[in-house]
Amino acid sequence: MRQKLVIGNWKMHGSLAANAALLDGIKAAPARARLAVCAPFPYLAQCQATLAGTAIAWGAQDVSAEVRGAFTGEVAAPMLAEFGCAYVLVGHSERRSYHGETDATVATKALRALESGLTPVVCVGETLAQREAGETEAVVGRQLAAVVEALSIDQLGKIVLAYEPVWAIGTGKTATSEQAQAVHAYLRGQVASGSAAASADVAARMPILYGGSVKPDNAAELFSMSDIDGGLIGGASLKAEDFLAIGNA
Ligand code: PGA
Repeated sequence: MRQKLVIGNWKMHGSLAANAALLDGIKAAPARARLAVCAPFPYLAQCQATLAGTAIAWGAQDVSAEVRGAFTGEVAAPMLAEFGCAYVLVGHSERRSYHGETDATVATKALRALESGLTPVVCVGETLAQREAGETEAVVGRQLAAVVEALSIDQLGKIVLAYEPVWAIGTGKTATSEQAQAVHAYLRGQVASGSAAASADVAARMPILYGGSVKPDNAAELFSMSDIDGGLIGGASLKAEDFLAIGNA
């Protein structure tokens, strides 16, 4: 049985004061799901100070594909580990589209995260044009395959996968629970069909989150699907009440 996991992606939002209020609100009430928040880099120390000792985990929204060196502006996985991060998002569609991250880069970032003991939340998803062209499985399958190839089966067993249709992110248009379930089942099947002996077991245990306009009023329906193990929440993670309502859906 996979426990539900709900991760907030704050994106480039927040301030010390706003985060303090948000984190206090999240801490104040229990949630049925495991909760985590992925904050902008400067606020990781605040998350660590505020959330240490609670059941809520924290993480970053990106990580460098390099370990150290002359890479101005980059943040390395060992640095995230020093701030107690449990998770790091890799391959979010905003990174892929605005920063030109390739499937290979995303796979290397996932590997760097694992090498530092972090859980990479590997994001995959198709654009509206790709969905309309019937390419959804080909696109998410290719994005996943790059990660599967870069990791050992043990490492693959430690990732979280997130399906986020690009057309549903921040648009208010959620995939229907059937649309999301179909892609989640496809992704799990792809992991299960790997050549390693443990592939089926790894696939059965892998948390696969849905992201894209998840709100308190649609979360329960999405999370009731057999292959949807929780959510990656953007906009609704900025309000403690909404985030907790999703964590209890
Ligand atoms: P959204 O964002 O919930 O605001 O659609 C989800 C995400 O980008 O992770």
